[in-house]
Amino acid sequence: MKSILIIGQNGQVSTYLQRALGAPYSVIVAGRQSMDLSQPAQIQAALDQFNPSLIINPAAYTAVDQAEQDREAAFTINRDAVSEIAAWCRAHNKPLIHYSTDYVFDGAATEPYTEQDAAAPSGVYGQSKYEGEQAILRSGAPAIILRTSWVYSNHGKNFYRTMLKLAETRNQLTVVGDQIGAPTYAGAIAQTTAELVDLIMQHGGIDERQIGVYHLTCAGETSWCEFARAIFEAHGVAVAVSAITTAEYPTPAKRPAYSVLSNAKLKQEFGLALPDWQQALQQCVAEARFSEPES
Ligand SMILES: NC(=O)c1ccc[n+]([C@@H]2O[C@H](COP(=O)([O-])OP(=O)(O)OC[C@H]3O[C@@H](n4cnc5c(N)ncnc54)[C@H](OP(=O)(O)O)[C@@H]3O)[C@@H](O)[C@H]2O)c1
Repeated sequence: MKSILIIGQNGQVSTYLQRALGAPYSVIVAGRQSMDLSQPAQIQAALDQFNPSLIINPAAYTAVDQAEQDREAAFTINRDAVSEIAAWCRAHNKPLIHYSTDYVFDGAATEPYTEQDAAAPSGVYGQSKYEGEQAILRSGAPAIILRTSWVYSNHGKNFYRTMLKLAETRNQLTVVGDQIGAPTYAGAIAQTTAELVDLIMQHGGIDERQIGVYHLTCAGETSWCEFARAIFEAHGVAVAVSAITTAEYPTPAKRPAYSVLSNAKLKQEFGLALPDWQQALQQCVAEARFSEPES
């Protein structure tokens, strides 16, 4: 039986991948105990033990602001560990699916970024993720790098859950309105990744010309402020949201003002596309309702 190794146990994308993947594959999940990405020197031996048919790596150092003062940890996990995973995949000719971020761009664009556009990260997190991408591409591993953005879900730490938590005690909020991007539901990322896995397995691997970076976000674009309004509307919660500027809400790491990604390459090469962000939000809300305990 073909086996798929998912690296990282409790992350948003990992959690939904574990739900989306199953038969005909055997799915192995490597948590920190069996594979600690802060110890890159131990990774090859751990992968030898698992010896999977395909690896998916949704694990990363994702604390964008904390990374500014925790530079070494971010680069160790997002670049050095990724480089070791890629080297193993190259040596054993095993496909690798890895995730990266819209924060590799500086946000100066005014139309969706393509995979051809030059990266220019403005923070440590974005730079460490970009160097992870570069390490994979240099390794020659049969790899697909999926850049996604503004990931949210009913699980873990994310903007969607933060807004719903705040709504428990507040009926007015201010949210940044001048950053534009595409909120992307982790469930949709996992579903499309599972379809990609099927295509790769049926094809017998990743062709050399398919190796590279692909954008994978929900379609459409919005601001954090509009996203917050849509979350409250979808939940039927009355919270007044007013827009503030990035300058009024300073953060340790600079965010791109505009980080919408074009998903045309993924559609063209694999025939895959995520729903638009409003539709995906409805899926996330429906999932929350479905999983609420009955009373
Ligand atoms: N979140 C976003 O808004 C966003 C936006 C764009 C791109 N991305 C990218 O999308 C991917 C998935 O993100 P996500 O939101 O699912 O991330 P997440 O919820 O923050 O989860 C991070 C995962 O990384 C694992 N991890 C962190 N340090 C580790 C270590 N030292 N050893 C082993 N595992 C470690 C965590 O392990 P535990 O399970 O033990 O906690 C967790 O499973 C990442 O590549 C991220 O860079 C995310």
